[in-house]
Amino acid sequence: MKTRIFRADEKESIETCAEIIKSGGLCAFPTETVYGLGANGLCESAVKKIFAAKGRPGDNPLILHVASKEQALSMWRDVPREAEMLMDVFFPGALTIICRRASCVPDAVTAGLDTAAVRMPSNEIAHRLIECSGVPIAAPSANLSGRPSPTREEHVIADMNGRIDAILCGGECSYGVESTVISLIGEPTILRPGAITPAQIGACIGEVKLAESMLTPVKEGETVLSPGMKYKHYSPDACVLAFLGDEYEQTEKICREYDKNDGKNCIILASEEYREHYGSRNVDVIGRRSDPYTLCRNLFSAFRRHNGCDVILCETTDASDAGLAYMNRLLRACGFEVR
Ligand code: TXA
Ligand code: MG
Repeated sequence: MKTRIFRADEKESIETCAEIIKSGGLCAFPTETVYGLGANGLCESAVKKIFAAKGRPGDNPLILHVASKEQALSMWRDVPREAEMLMDVFFPGALTIICRRASCVPDAVTAGLDTAAVRMPSNEIAHRLIECSGVPIAAPSANLSGRPSPTREEHVIADMNGRIDAILCGGECSYGVESTVISLIGEPTILRPGAITPAQIGACIGEVKLAESMLTPVKEGETVLSPGMKYKHYSPDACVLAFLGDEYEQTEKICREYDKNDGKNCIILASEEYREHYGSRNVDVIGRRSDPYTLCRNLFSAFRRHNGCDVILCETTDASDAGLAYMNRLLRACGFEVR
């Protein structure tokens, strides 16, 4: 398949991509979190193409992207009060809400579940694409299944060129980590940490639970609230290793591991604060511990940048605020093996 590449700032590109979506095609597009791989969310056959293009397991449901609260409400039934409260504060933005699904939502979107995940992106290009399409856009992240989520157009092109109809390029994603996913089925529970923190959500609706699968692996045969949590994720071809401990402990462990390999094909993903511990070793500074959003923003692109390395050595941080999303993605990338 020939993939057409569009630039969002070129005339009529968004309109053309909206036509592609409307007519049942696949189009990748930027959001404020990561790039999405979109299809008409009300069309079963279009949605099925997403799973084929990504190599995504059919039991992993998709998020519906909408352009208004009314459109969000039309994807659900029996909407609890908390959904309205969360939408008032966080829509548009990096929060995905799960409620009981309406009958218009195809089975392919929900992977047969009786619930539907909905989000309203704040990215202007995404917003215009959805509005112009006139339908909710079902979209997972626009990476091949298992690879790091794409935060720049070149990542999407690397994974999806030749597999989908179009890619709408719109620069780098500002968060670089996926949306927070909250389920309002029963007690409000955060299934996936993301750009919106538990504290921000707590301030809006009161107490919120955190799914256990956030920082621990799912065991064989265990049922999970969010099917996506079952799969190894976000991993580059390299071996990703993460190290626990205070500043001295983890940097020392990282240096030891690096030296054991003679630094051959090794890269250290460092915070600015710990940088000096690594001396002349091969280091990529990805952000600041004092602002874990910066670590989140660069983690996936760093994984892709160092794809040719044998070993990627990573620092850990407190699993609180945006650090929770960083640790969740890191632990999945290293298969939960922290040293
Ligand atoms: O920021 C984001 O959320 C990006 C952009 C493109 O919007 N999208 C994204 O989609 O990360 P995806 O498919 O990579 O991750 C969606 C997650 C998966 O873990 C999936 O299992 C979960 O949301 N999910 C979707 N619908 C669900 C449902 N009805 N019940 C439980 N989990 C659901
Ligand atoms: Mg994904």
